[in-house]
Amino acid sequence: MPSVRSFTSLLRNLARPGYARVIAGKVRSRFSNGSAARAAAVAFYIEQRVTPEAYCAAINPVLFAEAREFGEEVRARAAAMSAEVGFELGSGGRYELLYFLTRLHRPRTIVETGVAYGYSSYAFLQALERNGDGGRLFSSDFPFFRAADPERLVGILVPEALRSNWSLRTKGDGVNLPQILAEVDSVDFFHYDSDKSARGRAFGCGLVLERLASNGVFLMDDIEDNAFFHEHVKSLPAAGFVVFGASDRAFVGAIGIAPLIAQAE
Ligand SMILES: C[S@@+](CC[C@H](N)C(=O)[O-])C[C@H]1O[C@@H](n2cnc3c(N)ncnc32)[C@H](O)[C@@H]1O
Repeated sequence: MPSVRSFTSLLRNLARPGYARVIAGKVRSRFSNGSAARAAAVAFYIEQRVTPEAYCAAINPVLFAEAREFGEEVRARAAAMSAEVGFELGSGGRYELLYFLTRLHRPRTIVETGVAYGYSSYAFLQALERNGDGGRLFSSDFPFFRAADPERLVGILVPEALRSNWSLRTKGDGVNLPQILAEVDSVDFFHYDSDKSARGRAFGCGLVLERLASNGVFLMDDIEDNAFFHEHVKSLPAAGFVVFGASDRAFVGAIGIAPLIAQAE
């Protein structure tokens, strides 16, 4: 995120139609996380967590090696693009894990919320291309409001050659998700990484999970932000979900993938 110009860009973008309402909602939700429930959720995640590396290596070492190779490509491209645009393109989320799971589960229809510079979109599209099953990615974003020219940056990391299987919408989940769902029969893989408030999550997941295939995969990033994911999985058997965490501070929640314990036995 370009920090020097952020503030003036934020003010300029606030004047654009539809932006002020979304930004006000984000500010409100940042101060209403329910701290006791959140602390309980984080304690639960710490207890459950498995590192993405341990998981991928145990489930399929060959695909794990391929995912790590892809990670090298992403980092090289991000460095080159950062030099081109003149600022660091962040560090992305769990793109190697997303690549790995897409290669493993071979979804045909992927829906993701939250694109930003496009680390996750790049992972999904590259893995879909290697799968060769004709799968498609539908992405929903709301451009960074702290950047001067936000639309230009959305998904900038995704190479031109991978874009033919990509449908990208940038009007916010409230507008984008109903449009996306009108275009697909069912969803094989849903990655939620946009509005982190419990309300935003309830809205997006409420819509998309209804359409998740019975063998579908669901991932949510930054589940430590509030108790949303915990509330949904705490009554499930341990084999019903996976919590990924490379440390005790940041976690990704997953449903619909094999639990590590069952695979290791
Ligand atoms: C954490 S970033 C996504 C990172 C991305 N998945 C990656 O791997 O690089 C979150 C993104 O969600 C977008 N976002 C936030 N609120 C949104 C909303 N209500 N609808 C759609 N996108 C939203 C932000 O503008 C930002 O681009």
